[in-house]
Amino acid sequence: MQHDLFLTQFRDPSVSAEPSRYADAWRVGDWTTDSGARSGDYATGLASSRFPYAALGGRSIVVPPPATNDALASNRAYEPNGLDDRQFAALISPACRSAFGMTYASAGALYSVHIYALRPTCDDAELWYAQTEDARLLLIDKVGAAEVGNALIEQWAWPTGVLIALVLDLRRVTDKYGHRGIRFATLEAGELTQLLRERAHKMGLISCALGGFADADVLRLLRLSPDWYGVAIMIGVGQGRANA
Ligand SMILES: Cc1cc2nc3c(=O)[nH]c(=O)nc-3n(C[C@H](O)[C@H](O)[C@H](O)COP(=O)(O)O)c2cc1C
Repeated sequence: MQHDLFLTQFRDPSVSAEPSRYADAWRVGDWTTDSGARSGDYATGLASSRFPYAALGGRSIVVPPPATNDALASNRAYEPNGLDDRQFAALISPACRSAFGMTYASAGALYSVHIYALRPTCDDAELWYAQTEDARLLLIDKVGAAEVGNALIEQWAWPTGVLIALVLDLRRVTDKYGHRGIRFATLEAGELTQLLRERAHKMGLISCALGGFADADVLRLLRLSPDWYGVAIMIGVGQGRANA
C-alpha cells in the first residue's frame, strides 16, 4: 500500500528524539471491557455537575440561553448511505489550509491531528485521508464494511454518511513538547471535532462524537502503527434517518 510505505519513516525509532514511551502512556487509555461499564454515583446533565458557589455580594450576570440553532445535539439515527463527493468535500473544507492560514488552533502550529474518514459504498468501505495542506481528499484504500463495524463498540456509528477518525501524531507532538504534547494534540482534536460538527450542522447533517471504539482495530483499519499514532475520537456524520 502506497501510504503504508510512506509512513515507514515515522516508525523508525531513530527518526524520533524520544522513545515510544509517550505512545505507551497514551495506550493506557485504550478501550477495555470496563471502559463503559462503570456507573458511579454521578447524575448526568449540566446542572448537577456545576459547583454550588454563592455569588459574592449576590452579584451575578444573567446569560441569555442559547438559540435552538446553536445546539449541536448528538444524533445517532443515520441513513446508511455514504455522503456524495460534494457533501464530503464541503464537510472537510473548514479543516483545510487557506490563503489566510488555518481555521483552528494548534499548539506550536504543529497541526498534529490527521483526519481519516471511512465512507460506506454498496459492498465495502472507502478509506480517505484529508490532505489539508492542499485541500484535497485522497482515497487511500478499501476496507471491508464489516471490518469497520467490528472495530466499534457503538454499533449506531456504522454505516453513516462518513465516519471520521481524528488521529494524533504522537511522535510529532511529543518530540516538541514531551508528555504535555499529548494534551495539546487532544485539545486540537477537540477543536477539530467542534469545527466539523458545526459544519455538518450548517449542512443540515447530523453528527455524534464516538469514544466507544476498539483502538487497536481502528488503527489496523487505518494501516497505522500503534507505536506512533493514537485515535483521539471518531465522529459519525450523515443524513438523519427520515423516520427517526
Ligand atoms: C469525548 C466524547 C466521547 C463520546 N463518545 C460517545 C460514544 O461512544 N457513544 C455515544 O453514544 N455518545 C458519545 N458521546 C456523545 C455524548 O454521549 C453526548 O454528547 C452527551 O450525552 C450529551 O448529549 P448531547 O450531545 O445530545 O447534548 C461522546 C461525547 C464526547 C465529548
